[in-house]
Amino acid sequence: MHDTTSRPMRSARPTAPLATAIDSSLAIPGDKSISHRALMFGALAVGETTITGLLQGEDVLRTAAAMRALGADIRQDGVVWKVAGRGIGGLIEPQDVLDMGNSGTAARLLSGILASHPFFSVITGDASLRSRPMRRVSLPLAACGARITTRANGSLPMAIEGAREALPLDYDVPVPSAQVKSAVLLCGLNAAGITRVFEREATRDHSENMLRHFGAEVTVNEIGHGREILLRGQPELRAADVIVPGDPSSAAFPMVAALLVPGSRVLLRGVGLNPLRTGLFTTLREMGAALTILNGRTEGGELVGDILVQSTALRAVDVPPERAPSMIDEYPVLAVAAASARGITRMRGLKELRAKESDRLAATAAMLTANGVKVEIEGDDLLVYGNGNPPPGGGLVVTHMDHRLAMSGLVLGLSTLDPVTIDDVTFVDTSFPGFTGLMNGLIPGAEALVAA
Ligand code: S3P
Repeated sequence: MHDTTSRPMRSARPTAPLATAIDSSLAIPGDKSISHRALMFGALAVGETTITGLLQGEDVLRTAAAMRALGADIRQDGVVWKVAGRGIGGLIEPQDVLDMGNSGTAARLLSGILASHPFFSVITGDASLRSRPMRRVSLPLAACGARITTRANGSLPMAIEGAREALPLDYDVPVPSAQVKSAVLLCGLNAAGITRVFEREATRDHSENMLRHFGAEVTVNEIGHGREILLRGQPELRAADVIVPGDPSSAAFPMVAALLVPGSRVLLRGVGLNPLRTGLFTTLREMGAALTILNGRTEGGELVGDILVQSTALRAVDVPPERAPSMIDEYPVLAVAAASARGITRMRGLKELRAKESDRLAATAAMLTANGVKVEIEGDDLLVYGNGNPPPGGGLVVTHMDHRLAMSGLVLGLSTLDPVTIDDVTFVDTSFPGFTGLMNGLIPGAEALVAA
């Protein structure tokens, strides 16, 4: 795991422009959101849950370590992970601080579980995570009766004294956030009565799907663009088998690489196609991208398919703000695609990007500016000016401990005239272990991504 104090910088410099087309097929690693949830729900269920396709990225390994510290028995058995759960209310006080590394999802979802377990715990994380807003969970969760304290600016470390008899929450989530919604629902698992969450815009619903899969009673009412979710508290969660689909947010990187490198044709296998996650695919299609879904199927309650991507000349689009929740992690790599598209791409309503592993709005703009692409930030909108030609490149991408910026920079470097340098690619392992090797393997006879 990362030692954030003494980690040496590892940079990468994609060779550019790529002379060789990419022609390959690859399996996309497991969905990060679903992997965290599978471990957490498994730990809260009675019996042994098996998880196939768990993402073995650093973020998810932090969740596994935390659930072990809370008393669950978690073992890897070949490609399957097994979780012997303790039942709702059955977790035990951890002996030490829970360090969630770089993962906002792990920290926030876990805070929901801990708020309704009657013991003391402390959550912390790396420098990136310690700079992210936690009041969005600490304030609503405190209403269940937990005592939650954060640092003065609302950030980690966060100390939680869980409620002895938690009250069910009724909460209108003020920002579109699946993490906040899920934290409230997880807290509600150990509260008698009905927990109600309302979100004005629908966000990824993996928690709702998985709660049902483990036997909880969940009702979802669609209201306008939003949803009301009702959970009956203190169900007996029963161990279940979970098949984790490939992460559409990870598929985004080889997808955009294949679109941008002329003559390429890549089959991305086993990608999750939950409609609340596929805003990027919709947007790329509007830009003219040749994306074909093959072999669509349902696995473990989630839609899955293979996606055939063929390189395409892209045109600019206007991305509406209401699409943001369904592609919130994909804007940096969409901006890379937009830099090669013809025209001005406007991405609207990106306020939440400022609260990610880095201020992704500013960092994405800086990545492109440093590489000769004109960009503007207007309020919460990002404008990228493309002319249909490869961007100049030649600049440095500063990643701010943010895996998605590092991978976006690497994809950018496959499309530019001059090489792009990425300051630090170590954080790629949080969500896509093996990314650089995999990208190199895609390109016959060439080391596309080489250490700088
Ligand atoms: C996630 C929700 C999103 C997303 C994150 C994973 C989840 O965060 O950016 O990568 O698994 O619930 P927000 O809830 O902060 O939007």
